[in-house]
Amino acid sequence: MRLSRSDFPAGFQFGAATSAYQIEGTRFGGTGTSHWDTFSATPGNVLNGENGATACDHYHRWEQDLDLIRDAGFDAYRFSTSWARILPEGRGTPNAEGLDFYDRLVDGMLARGLKPFLTLYHWDLPSDLAMRGGWTNPDIAGWFTDYARVVMGRIGDRVATTATINEPWCVSWLSHFLGAHAPGLRDIRAAAHAMHHVLLAHGDTVAALRADGYRNLGLVTNFEYCGPMSDTPADHAAAAREDAIYNRWFVEGVSSGKYPEEALAGLRQWMPKGWEQEMGRVSQSIDWLGVNYYTRRLYADAPGALWPSTTGGPGPLPKTSMDWEIYPEGLEFILTRLATKQAPGLPIYITENGMSWRDELRGNRVEDPVRIDFMERHLDVVKRRIAAGDDIRGFFYWSLLDNYEWAFGYDRRFGLVYVDMDSLERHPKASYHALATALATR
Ligand code: FCB
Repeated sequence: MRLSRSDFPAGFQFGAATSAYQIEGTRFGGTGTSHWDTFSATPGNVLNGENGATACDHYHRWEQDLDLIRDAGFDAYRFSTSWARILPEGRGTPNAEGLDFYDRLVDGMLARGLKPFLTLYHWDLPSDLAMRGGWTNPDIAGWFTDYARVVMGRIGDRVATTATINEPWCVSWLSHFLGAHAPGLRDIRAAAHAMHHVLLAHGDTVAALRADGYRNLGLVTNFEYCGPMSDTPADHAAAAREDAIYNRWFVEGVSSGKYPEEALAGLRQWMPKGWEQEMGRVSQSIDWLGVNYYTRRLYADAPGALWPSTTGGPGPLPKTSMDWEIYPEGLEFILTRLATKQAPGLPIYITENGMSWRDELRGNRVEDPVRIDFMERHLDVVKRRIAAGDDIRGFFYWSLLDNYEWAFGYDRRFGLVYVDMDSLERHPKASYHALATALATR
């Protein structure tokens, strides 16, 4: 790898990221049912009908996994707690085994010199709450705050940073409008409600945790560069509508208390009553923003089609096995706009960036030069933006392990470490070794 640690400021945090449902195995340790268990049990939702019941069995193999993180030379580990593992019914009595697990895990990180970066919600909503409307029910702000307090009461004294929600766009739009993730709705009113409630839950939780004395509270948002399919004004406007929904709604709601007009134009009539009076709750000040970035998508105007009246797809650039174009320039655009317009001065962590590939295990080796190149090109952007003055404090590769990639089941490999999905054995890929060497070079 071309880059080394000395290309980045002292104190810059390198880490790997995972999430609970994707690696732990929900059948272990008294976990309750989540909407991902039922979504994946419903025909047609997930490739090969796969689910997270066993996943990577991280629940039992966590020590080995933390060793892998330490041995790569990482400084930090971004993980999530499972709401359904901690509160099997979503509310009420915690599952002691679940809390004990995260307690051990956090101590395990500290023992290995790794800073724990906690995410409180990475998509495994307990079924009892999903049955009450989940993110479409305004009560979720209170449910989530209560859950957050249970988690922080147990491990909040030892985590370095806490993120409320992972990727509000996925929680709301992808899951309630596009129907691609649990609960699989395709309903514009449900989507508009979820888009607001997810930020209310975030804001109320930040306020509550701050009142409890916790610091380093943030939100993790995902960004995708939205470009026009052609140079016509109509296609530019189509891209701007998607950009407003994807890249502006959540971060600008939080940073300025305002949703973008290009998105409200289609969503205003479907918003929950009185939402305008609630923007103060949404825009609680946060200590940092997590940026997840993978790719770009190009949009064309679809005249006559229902709002947002666009068709989208990837462009002609080389693609990962997700069919996502490799486009580091999009990260540069996103970071520049955050620093100059959307959230000037707000510290940033790149909380996810990575790629899936058709990796193959040969002997004990996985050669993945394309992933090494991908990391270099995205880290180059980070380096350039730091030189330009942006306050970017860390970079987390998604993901440590090949894992359950949601609607794609176990078919998409994002890991630095190859996981044999039958034996569950771990094999560090060439990218893992390259990064370890880079991190050891000062
Ligand atoms: C992000 C998710 C993460 C993983 C990557 C590929 O949107 O946060 O869980 O699925 O994409």
